[in-house]
Amino acid sequence: MDEDKKKELIEKALEARKMAYAPYSHFCVGAALLTGTGEVYQGGNIENASYGATNCAERTAFFKAVSEGCREFTAIAVAGGREGREPEDYAYPCGICRQVMGEFCSPDFTVIVVKAPGEYREFALSELMPCGFDLQ
Ligand code: THU
Repeated sequence: MDEDKKKELIEKALEARKMAYAPYSHFCVGAALLTGTGEVYQGGNIENASYGATNCAERTAFFKAVSEGCREFTAIAVAGGREGREPEDYAYPCGICRQVMGEFCSPDFTVIVVKAPGEYREFALSELMPCGFDLQ
């Protein structure tokens, strides 16, 4: 991926944390999803008083994009940490979000886990979700 686009994605994931709705965990996650046509969809986690109804930042970004008709994706950047602070560690996508990525993305889809603008780790989806569920 183009270095400028990667930088943009990382900044937009950190920015998306500001839109998180996390009054229960006070843990704000932001995601920035790059489509095959170069658009970026941002998402934050959206919590609920019934905790299981919470939606993760990554899925917010995916569902926004998919509901607008996007079906091709190149990369996602994800950043998470305590509310009101910069991330103190890497926040990896949960299993449900990895499964959702597997629904729409190829094994070489890039997942960038961000701690700070210059501190990130990059993975192929196949490394994070090697044996996802699929119907035969
Ligand atoms: N969360 C995400 O947004 N993405 C993940 O991949 C894992 C967890 C959110 C859900 C919840 O609002 C908060 O982080 C604490 O679990």
